[in-house]
Amino acid sequence: MRLIMVSFKRFLFFSSIVLSFAACQKSGGHAGDPTSRPALNLDRSAFRQTVDGKQTDLYILQNDHGMQVAITNYGGHIVGIWVPDRNGHFADVVLGYDSLSGYLHGPDNYFGALVGRYANRIAKGKFTLDGKSYSLPINSGGNTLHGGTKGFDSMVWDARQLNGRNLLLTLDSKDMDQGFPGNLHVQVLYTLTENNSLRIEYTAITDKPTVINLTNHAYFNLKGAGNGKITDHILMINADRFTPVDSTMIPTGQIAPVKDTPFDFTRPTRIGARINADNIQIKYAHGYDDNFVLNKKMRGQLSLAARVYEPTTGRVLEVYTTEPGVQFYTSNYLNAIGKDGNHYQIRSAFALETEHYPDSPNHANFPSTELKPGQIFYSVTIDRFSTREKN
Ligand code: BGC
Repeated sequence: MRLIMVSFKRFLFFSSIVLSFAACQKSGGHAGDPTSRPALNLDRSAFRQTVDGKQTDLYILQNDHGMQVAITNYGGHIVGIWVPDRNGHFADVVLGYDSLSGYLHGPDNYFGALVGRYANRIAKGKFTLDGKSYSLPINSGGNTLHGGTKGFDSMVWDARQLNGRNLLLTLDSKDMDQGFPGNLHVQVLYTLTENNSLRIEYTAITDKPTVINLTNHAYFNLKGAGNGKITDHILMINADRFTPVDSTMIPTGQIAPVKDTPFDFTRPTRIGARINADNIQIKYAHGYDDNFVLNKKMRGQLSLAARVYEPTTGRVLEVYTTEPGVQFYTSNYLNAIGKDGNHYQIRSAFALETEHYPDSPNHANFPSTELKPGQIFYSVTIDRFSTREKN
């Protein structure tokens, strides 16, 4: 997270820069003819509904190379990402549902969701800020997970599709929403670029000191959603250290080296190679569900967090972020019927959630997640897709 000190007026000015930047990008190219290429098989009308008195919808971004990204303003969920393999065959590489009703009533998997106000866990749902104690709803093993029982993933965001490449989502989270202090105004700009990248930019301001940790919870399977397990994907994580947890998945506060552990992904390694290792952290999580401390030259630098290669299709995903950490999760409990009737099971997807470390408000040695009035929260993550030839 980068914090920029500004007045509210300057924030509005900043927002208008974001919008004009998006508009300029539009004039840089024209959307490809959607009829000439295969496309995501999603019915927009299945996402149109009134929820909490607001209209939900599905928005499609497309670039000149046929890459498509589908996003709903219900929870900002990325519903589909359509990318080619090394032979030019397209597939949808994220898990999700065919209709809004899956997101409303399906098992709570956070498929592609915008997660907030605080992504990941806060121990026992409690933290103290400026001497005041706050209590949040408990929704996961005695702790608060992903912002509480009604986090940003289940709110209807205001949407503005600026052009074929950009979608701007905004949300006003009220003072004491899920127990968090401060009226928080959040903007998320999704941009699809010509180098097959999905850029996610987060900005936020508050009128009282609060804590904030925003991420996207896309579940990837580079073979295609519903197409088996991800254990043969090859993963590199640019992290020499990670934050071990206790049996309730709360960081102990220690920042430990990955060397000589199943968490060493500094060299490309099969996800499944050590996923059943005799290791207490693996046992607590039933696989990987860990925060990695990203190697960075400078705090807030946009740098490579992880690279994933799927050998049979040649698809490669690179994740870049300004965030200090990434939560690597191997869908350890997944059991849901998703798009095209596919049964998603454990290990059928991985998530790389770029974020601050779990439970940071309760660990003074972790980078701070506090946001004060007059500051702008700013964070960027880029998911870049490409392909690689067979070795
Ligand atoms: C968490 C997991 C949790 C999952 C739910 C992940 O971000 O780290 O512990 O079960 O989200 O989808």
